Amino acid sequence: MKGFEKYRRQYFMPPKPCLEWTKKEYIEEAPIWCSVDLRDGNQSLIIPMSLEEKLEFFKLLVAVGFKEIEVGFPAASQTEFDFVRTLIEEDLIPDDVTIQVLTQAREHIIKRTFEAVKGAKRENVIVHLYNSTSKAQREQVFRKSKEEIKQIAVDGARLLQELSERDGGGYRFEYSPESFTGTEVEYALEVCNAVLDVWKPTADHKVIINLPVTVEMSMPHVYASQIEYMCKHMKDREHVVISLHPHNDRGCGVADSELGVLAGADRIEGTLFGNGERTGNVDIITLAMNMYSMGVDPQLDFSDMPHIVDVYEQVTRMKVGYRQPYAGQLVFAAFSGSHQDAIAKGMHYRDEQQETQWTVPYLPLDPRDVGRQYETDVIRINSQSGKGGVAYMLEEYYGYELPVDMREGIGYFMKGISDAQHRELLPNEVRDLFEKEYRNVNTPYAMEDFHFAREGGDFICTLRVVTDGERKNIVGSGNGRLDAVSNALRNNTNVQFDIMDYKEHALTKGSTSKAVSYVKIKDCRGLDQWGVGIHDDIITSSVMALFSALNRALAQRRAQEGKG
Ligand code: KIV
Ligand code: ZN
Repeated sequence: MKGFEKYRRQYFMPPKPCLEWTKKEYIEEAPIWCSVDLRDGNQSLIIPMSLEEKLEFFKLLVAVGFKEIEVGFPAASQTEFDFVRTLIEEDLIPDDVTIQVLTQAREHIIKRTFEAVKGAKRENVIVHLYNSTSKAQREQVFRKSKEEIKQIAVDGARLLQELSERDGGGYRFEYSPESFTGTEVEYALEVCNAVLDVWKPTADHKVIINLPVTVEMSMPHVYASQIEYMCKHMKDREHVVISLHPHNDRGCGVADSELGVLAGADRIEGTLFGNGERTGNVDIITLAMNMYSMGVDPQLDFSDMPHIVDVYEQVTRMKVGYRQPYAGQLVFAAFSGSHQDAIAKGMHYRDEQQETQWTVPYLPLDPRDVGRQYETDVIRINSQSGKGGVAYMLEEYYGYELPVDMREGIGYFMKGISDAQHRELLPNEVRDLFEKEYRNVNTPYAMEDFHFAREGGDFICTLRVVTDGERKNIVGSGNGRLDAVSNALRNNTNVQFDIMDYKEHALTKGSTSKAVSYVKIKDCRGLDQWGVGIHDDIITSSVMALFSALNRALAQRRAQEGKG
């Protein structure tokens, strides 16, 4: 692709290699989560949320379990300001939830921010100060030296301290060297340490230093190394909460966060479904569920994902993509035959072994854990699907335990229909098609009545059969009931066949319990044909299954001869 020469790497490596984090394997406990949906997420929407919408979203975030929520940039607009006032004046902030408000390091903005949070429990408010420190912004936007930019941060930090003390103290503070990823790492450290010199964190009054991936500029391991460097060299490290705030320009926000936590960070700022500026903020749902699916409690509750998706889509007017991890419509779906087969077998194995750990192939997580259903979300049928999926669907949802040998034919039958119609077949359509094609098929031969008598060791069967409008009684004998029925048919019609396989079981799914029988015959051309019978009475169901198989074979022969 032409034009690549125009670009260069704009990030800065730490002065010494910082790769200790590579020795860690996974995240062992949940970081502190901070939702920035109502600020970063909101400021990137085509239509920012109204006050009512922000309130609804706030309640959702609280219900999910967020303990820190950035609720806005109060100096940015009247709605932002009013929202913070509403939360405080209507006492809507739970005791265990801390709200966070963002302010630039500019005097009038800081002052307006303090006005917005007046009256709140001060220890439940984080005032989040930022100024941009990147090389590009220093040179192009502010045209200021490193010293001057550092001074902006220090002056802002002092004003926060002063206004907090004026109000009685106790507000919590956060500082972000905005565009950290485009800042020389040693310089970012120098600025952060200068801010810490002002705020003087203690064990009881920790300070948050947030190191944003304002724009993602490097591969995730570079960011992790930068974070490790900052963690190693930050002043008062034990009294500082190191926070990450990855955006997703290169699509690696989740990786940045995960590696950043391995590198020593304590806290992550992000949003639901990754809403946020440009390609978005890091998706906290993915991060949390990644932990969950490794057996670590994420301390957030996404068990009703469909509800979370609904509220999110309604208040943000955004759409959750079909492939959005853990939440998209298709993320548990298996259309392909081999996947369906493995899932169906994995689910059977689970039941059979009473397995408590989740190990089902192709499903990284039990869909029910996020409020999804096997019936609608997992095995789905289209032209890519195979016998396993159709058999699983018919058994799990409708109770048909198809004989193994019957599955392939039904799989091809459904695949053919889906292919011809170029669409997915829903579970009830699969059932209806199956029943229409295989069950109680009664043309050209309809069975009206039958009874059995015993003669010696044999069964004698008398059947009343209607064909082409003509009704007649036929009789046959055999050493089993089905054998007797077969002989009656063979001896009194010009059709020849052999019974090859038979299965029956109670059909317990649905309101009433019936018997279902499956019969396989080989017709006079040597072709196999299955039929299914359903009836209250098991014997009747088996006779009907035999008629179904025979009628299907005849219908197929007629169709082929007609074509020929
Ligand atoms: O992305 C960013 O750098 C920000 C800061 C204000 C933290 O949103
Ligand atoms: Zn941001």
